[in-house]
Amino acid sequence: MHKISLLSLTFFALVAIAASGPGVCPSPCHCHGDLQHVICDDVGIKKIPRVSDNTRLLNMQRNNLPVLPTGGFGSMKGLISLHLQHCHIKEISGQAFKGLKKLVYLYLSNNEISIIKPGAFEDLTELTYLYLDNNRIPDLPKGIFTPLANLFILQLSDNKLRELRPGTFSGAKDLRWLHLSGNELTSIHPSALDEVENLAILHLDRNRLSSYPVSPMSKLRVVEELSLSKNPMKVIPDEAFQSFGRYMEKLYMDNMGLERFSDGAFNGVTALKSLHIENNKLSSLPSSLSFATVENITLSNNNWMCNCQLAPLRRWMDSSRLRPDATCASPSQYRGQQIRESTAFSNCRQKSKRDKKGTRH
Ligand SMILES: *[C@@H]1O[C@H](CO)[C@@H](O)[C@H](O)[C@H]1NC(C)=O
Repeated sequence: MHKISLLSLTFFALVAIAASGPGVCPSPCHCHGDLQHVICDDVGIKKIPRVSDNTRLLNMQRNNLPVLPTGGFGSMKGLISLHLQHCHIKEISGQAFKGLKKLVYLYLSNNEISIIKPGAFEDLTELTYLYLDNNRIPDLPKGIFTPLANLFILQLSDNKLRELRPGTFSGAKDLRWLHLSGNELTSIHPSALDEVENLAILHLDRNRLSSYPVSPMSKLRVVEELSLSKNPMKVIPDEAFQSFGRYMEKLYMDNMGLERFSDGAFNGVTALKSLHIENNKLSSLPSSLSFATVENITLSNNNWMCNCQLAPLRRWMDSSRLRPDATCASPSQYRGQQIRESTAFSNCRQKSKRDKKGTRH
């Protein structure tokens, strides 16, 4: 009798030590690799579990956490990857990620976030990938990303952003990919992109920009891929892509109701490989557009006027293996003909280099 109770006492003492120490997988989660991965996916927890310094990855997807409180992850000093998708998060408090100085990946997609308090991302100096897409974010506090000196990808698509203000991205000087598709942007402040001049990919499609954001775009230096699809823009002005024209390889401007490119719109563009301008109201292409590097072009559903101004396009089609769909809308004798087959261009002469320079002898 005496012996048994001593034994059970020892047993309970051991359990108690294990439960409070660092070496235990928090219930009802499961864990791998010496607690390096803690998986609490869809387990109905309402609080952030306690994990050890050992933990590198915490997956808490599909739980219910309406507010991320200040310092809620404070004990997780070794965390590199934090998954909080589908958690009905509505609000992120100031210093919500306090102490997560090694965090590289933060996934907050598919929540209901509408409030991000100033200082929310403090301490995240190593963060490289931040996913905030599919939320309800209406605006971003000035300097909210300032602690994120290593941020490389910022995913903000499918939120409710109405404008980009100056200082929105201050401090995120290494940002390379910025996704803002599917917001309600009607304007971008002239200096809103000043701090992210090294952007390589910029997605602004599915917004409400009714004019090309000349001034903010002119701050960018190395954009390789730009999407403006599905913005209600009628005209693309001269020098629109000039400041990054040597880098731009992909340009998406389909489904915009575009009526016209200003004649110098493509000035400085020398590397373009893919151009997507289908479903617009274009009748011609500007002389500044060079087809020398173009590999792929989509341009169906426009109002193409088949005269010699489109001859460079036709020559490109003659030399390409692709057979892009594009029909003439005018003049009437060519209406309905495919540009690539039309006889409209048979008398067009190739502009010589001499003519282009305007020198005559
Ligand atoms: C051309 O671009 C379109 C639209 O992005 C794409 O679907 C198609 O696969 C591309 N074609 C080639 C040959 O790259």
